[in-house]
Amino acid sequence: MNPGNTSFSISSKQPAAVAACHSAMLGYAQRKTSVVADLQTAIKHDPECAFAHAALGLMLYGARNSAFNSKTVACLQQAEAYRDGATEHESAYIDALAANTKGDLASFTKHMEHALALQPTDIFGLSIAQSELFWTGCMDRSLQISERVLPHWNESVDGYAEFLASRAFDLEEANRFDEAENCGRQSVDLNPASVWATHAVAHVLLMQGRSAEGVDWIAPQEQYWDDCNQIKFHVWWHKCLFYIENKQLEAALEAYDRQVRNRENELLLAMPDLYIDLQNGASLLWRLEHAGVDVGDRWVEMAEVVNARIDDNSSPFTSAHFAMILAAVGSYELCDQLIENMQAFAEKETGHALASRYADAGIPAARAAVEHRRGNFTEVLKILMPVRHALWQMGGSHAQQDIFFQLLVDAAARLGRKDDVNKLLHEIELIGFVEPAKRTGYEAASVASVASDWAHE
Ligand SMILES: [Fe+2]
Repeated sequence: MNPGNTSFSISSKQPAAVAACHSAMLGYAQRKTSVVADLQTAIKHDPECAFAHAALGLMLYGARNSAFNSKTVACLQQAEAYRDGATEHESAYIDALAANTKGDLASFTKHMEHALALQPTDIFGLSIAQSELFWTGCMDRSLQISERVLPHWNESVDGYAEFLASRAFDLEEANRFDEAENCGRQSVDLNPASVWATHAVAHVLLMQGRSAEGVDWIAPQEQYWDDCNQIKFHVWWHKCLFYIENKQLEAALEAYDRQVRNRENELLLAMPDLYIDLQNGASLLWRLEHAGVDVGDRWVEMAEVVNARIDDNSSPFTSAHFAMILAAVGSYELCDQLIENMQAFAEKETGHALASRYADAGIPAARAAVEHRRGNFTEVLKILMPVRHALWQMGGSHAQQDIFFQLLVDAAARLGRKDDVNKLLHEIELIGFVEPAKRTGYEAASVASVASDWAHE
């Protein structure tokens, strides 16, 4: 099947390479595990296929792991070597990869937008653009892109279910919840394995406080995800958030072990330090502890893999979670080193799009996570209150970023700062959460903020 527009072409004289590229492209939008293997197959059949090299480089860059940097550059070099055989559309991918290797988000976005102007139903390009813009806090730009290509899509175009899934997530992060839910549900109706659409609707349900529906929405669709990548762990993370909201804390802990961070799962064994998995794990354990659950030694195995990543500045949101993990096991010296590395990156790599995101959001979030674990709640407020409106720059969804607001509200509540608690709860509602005071992560602080002993301060 051709992903998107059937006139989409891959420049290769080897049909097996073309087929493998097409499989990778649709597979990426469908969050399949097979994408990298497909691209490697394409390269095996046609080592001069520039597009396959560029696409593989973009996959490696998207893993947000500095250990892959040299391989990403090698992919770019191969793609450049065969650029003469590439179409203008394929060339835009090579340019986008080149931009990524320099940390030039504006250039990356410009080239992906060009690729999508040439091929508006290129679901691969749309998905890659969304991913990069998501992890850099630019979902408004992603929404603009999907808005632009929308007129070119309909049910007769291959990849429509995947387009609806992508569109649903753009809409959800823009708080256009009804439209997002309609798009997401339509996608799942067309393709029950549309895990990205299941995910988008899960976000809607969380933001709207419809947690009772949440588990029932996700559970029946799990049967379709056998060949999905680690996104399924993240959707299970969402299921755990619903469990927590529903006060099913034992179910959440059990799902953590069996689904979110199952140490026997082959995907997790193959890549135990994948950024999204560590975010899921840290964020969930913190929330469970906050809800009063003893999580035992579950932080330890994550800390063991984070130990080797303290000089990795591939993702500010991930680095902030690294700090949370290291602090949870008492590795405060490593926390200091991690934050020093983040600061050095932000100061030296001023031309890199992530530098300001580290400076303005990632570093304060990391420092606050550490101070919260140390019990220095005054410091948490001092660090986070001034930057709370900039935290979106770290990337991640409203639901994911919420962990740092929970941390901040908790610190304010412990200090008896009821005005701050109320102000923050109001702001969290403005972010898009319906009635945050009733949510598990905030209800204790909310109750405390109206307690009579505070009324006489
Ligand atoms: Fe999510």
